[in-house]
Amino acid sequence: MIKEVSFSYSVFSSIDDLSQDDKILMKESDRALQQAYAKYSGFNVGAALYLDNGKMMSANNQENMALPSSLCAERVLLYYCKANFPTLGVKKIAISVKSSIEIIDKPISPCGSCRQVMLEYERMQESNIEVLLKGQTGEVYLIKSVSDLLPLAFNTNAINRL
Ligand code: THU
Repeated sequence: MIKEVSFSYSVFSSIDDLSQDDKILMKESDRALQQAYAKYSGFNVGAALYLDNGKMMSANNQENMALPSSLCAERVLLYYCKANFPTLGVKKIAISVKSSIEIIDKPISPCGSCRQVMLEYERMQESNIEVLLKGQTGEVYLIKSVSDLLPLAFNTNAINRL
């Protein structure tokens, strides 16, 4: 038997075509990436999200000379939000990127670890987290659920029995 996984997502030709709320979120993500501490990769990532109560939060990637100690923008932001507002869900997260090497003219999807973290929060809150993605220029993608980005994700009840 062969099973197939597919999903659809919206493509906007630029940030100008987004709804007002999405435009604000994307601009906040663009603003946040300017403050990234990314001197080792030269790859700045910004993330901004709306919490259930409408509050907007943002963060960026934080690197370290001990390279594996670095952390992606998405997880810096989500862990901060969950540490400080544990009861609030996340409605939508916008992610934008910028490189010191070349102009990024299309969205870049979050890494697998960030997808796994976003997915667990999505499952926990029992409602979709939408994902907006943007490069420095070009199209913007809107994905309806983190689960679309991580088919066959790690998920089991066979732990947490300590
Ligand atoms: N990075 C993120 O912030 N988010 C991702 O989803 C992938 C990568 C950061 C980590 C590192 O600081 C830089 O981008 C290059 O990998």
